[in-house]
Amino acid sequence: MKTIDLAAISVLSLAILACSSADANYEVVPLPQSIEYQDEEAFTLNSRTVITSDDQCQKEAEFLAEYIEELTGFRCKISSKERNNSINLCVSPAEFYCNVAEEEAVKEAYKITVNKDEVKIVGDSPAGVFHAVQTLRKSLPSQKTAKVQLKAVQIQDYPRFGYRSTLLDVSRHFFDVDYIKKFIDLLALHNMNYFHWHLTEDQGWRIEIKKYPELAEKASVRAQTVIGRQAEHNDYDGTPYGEGCYYTQEQVKEIVQYAKDRHINIIPEIDMPGHMIAALSVLPELGCTGGPYKVWERWGVSDDLLCVGKDATMDFCKDVLNEICELFPCNYIHIGGDECPKNRWAECPDCQKRIKDLKLHKTKAKSPEEALQGWFTREICDYLAQKGKTVIGWDEVLEGENIADNLVIMSWRGSAGGIIAAKREVPAIMVPNDYLYFDYYQTDNPKELEPLGIGGYVPIEKVYSLDPTAQIPQEYHSYILGVQANLWTEYIATEEHLEHMALPRMAALSELQWCERDKDYEDFLNRLRTFAQLYDRLNYNYAKYIFTQE
Ligand code: ACM
Ligand code: ZN
Repeated sequence: MKTIDLAAISVLSLAILACSSADANYEVVPLPQSIEYQDEEAFTLNSRTVITSDDQCQKEAEFLAEYIEELTGFRCKISSKERNNSINLCVSPAEFYCNVAEEEAVKEAYKITVNKDEVKIVGDSPAGVFHAVQTLRKSLPSQKTAKVQLKAVQIQDYPRFGYRSTLLDVSRHFFDVDYIKKFIDLLALHNMNYFHWHLTEDQGWRIEIKKYPELAEKASVRAQTVIGRQAEHNDYDGTPYGEGCYYTQEQVKEIVQYAKDRHINIIPEIDMPGHMIAALSVLPELGCTGGPYKVWERWGVSDDLLCVGKDATMDFCKDVLNEICELFPCNYIHIGGDECPKNRWAECPDCQKRIKDLKLHKTKAKSPEEALQGWFTREICDYLAQKGKTVIGWDEVLEGENIADNLVIMSWRGSAGGIIAAKREVPAIMVPNDYLYFDYYQTDNPKELEPLGIGGYVPIEKVYSLDPTAQIPQEYHSYILGVQANLWTEYIATEEHLEHMALPRMAALSELQWCERDKDYEDFLNRLRTFAQLYDRLNYNYAKYIFTQE
C-alpha cells in the first residue's frame, strides 16, 4: 500500500514538474558588464529545445546540455544545424576585434542574444563561450522545473582582469583527486581561469617526482600534528598524517586535462628555498646544517631552508622543475620565495662562499643573505625562461636587486608589494592577506559560528570592498594582472570546512576579478542570495549565517 502511495506521489510530482515554468534571471554572480532587455517575446526553454554548436565549442554544448538536464530532467539534443527553438553556440573572434588589434583586445569575451526563436551565444574563443554557458546556467532558476522563460535580452560581457584564480594548499591537509575536480568546478562556476595549486610545504610533499621517489613516498608523511592553536599549548596528536597523500604524475595529467576542459590553467607551486623541510627530511644534504630533519609537525616559519650555497641544491631545484614543466603546460609556474629567515645562511660556509664568489655585499637596504635570495630567484627565473615560462613569486622576491623580465610578483603581505611592483613596471597579482586570505575567519564571533581557524577577520563585505588598483597611478594599472584568494589549510582538514571558508566569499572575489562596474554591496548581496541556492543544489557547503547576521 505504502509503495503504491509513493509511486502515485512521484508520478504526480513529475506531472506537476512537467507543467511548471519559471523565469530566468540574468543578474547573476559575477554580474555581466552589460544587460539590455529587449522589447520582444521571450524564449521558452523546454524539452524540444535543441543545442547547436560549431566545431570549436562542442564541449561547451555538452556542458550546457548537462546543466539543463540537472535542472529540468531532460537532455537537449545537440545538433550542428540551426533551427527554431534552439540555443546556438559559436566562436567568432571577428565580432569582437573589429576595432582593436586582436592582441590588445580583452580576451574571453562573449555575447548572449535572446529572442523568441533562439538563444545565440557568440564567444571570441571557446573560453568566451564557456563563460557564456556559465552565465546562462546561473540565470536558470535554482529549483527544478521543466520549462524556463528567458526574457529577450542582449548581454555583452568580458572579464576585467586576465588573471583570476584561487590558491589551494594541499600540503598541510590533503584533498584527493575527486575533490580537486570538485574544487575546479567551483572555480569555473565563479569564472576563474587559473588554479594555483600549492603542492609542497614543510608539512608534506604532495607530487610524484620520478627522479626523487622518496619525496612522494616519504616526505608526504608527518609523524604527528600539533593540536589546536600551537601558541596556546604544545600537544601533538600522535597520529601519522599523509600516508599515500600525494598526486601521481598520471593523476596530475588527468587533473590538468579536467581543468583545461573548463578553461582553467593550473599553476603549480614548488615553494623554494624556504618551506622545504619535508624535502630536506629525505635529502638532508641539501640543507645548510645537513640535518637530520623531519617533516614538520607544527605550523609557522622554519629557520631551515635549502642551502643555496651548494651546487647540488641548484641541480635538485632544476630537476624538480624539469618534471613540473613537463606536467603543467601553463605559461606560469610559481616558485614561492616567501618567509625565508636568513640565520642559517649567515652561518653556513657554503652559503657564505657563494656570497663571496658572487661579490654580494651588504647595502643600506639589504644584507648579503637577502641578496643571495635575489641571486637564487634570478637563477631559477633564467632557467625557466629557457623553457618559455613566466615565473610567479611571493612579494619577498621583489627584494632582489636584479629582477628578471619573466618574474611576476604575488602581493600577499597586504597590497604594498603589488603597488611597489606596478610602479616599477613589474607585473603583479593582488592577494592581500587582509582582504583575500580565506583561511581567516569571516565573522567576529568565530567561537559560535566557525570551526577553529588560523585567526584573522575578513568578512565578505570587506572582501567585496577591495579596490585592486588603489594607490596605483592610472598609467601603471595595466601591471596589475589580476586578483586571487588563498586557502591555506593548516586548520582546514575537511572538504566541508574548506567550502565553508571559501563560500560565499569566492562570490565576492569573482566580482572583483570580473566586473568593471561600480560595486554596490547591497545589490551584490541580493544576487548572492539567489546564487547561493545553486550552491545548495550542487551540494557545496557555505557560511549561511552571513545572510542572517546584522
Ligand atoms: C604566504 O602566506 N606565506 C604567502
Ligand atoms: Zn647554506
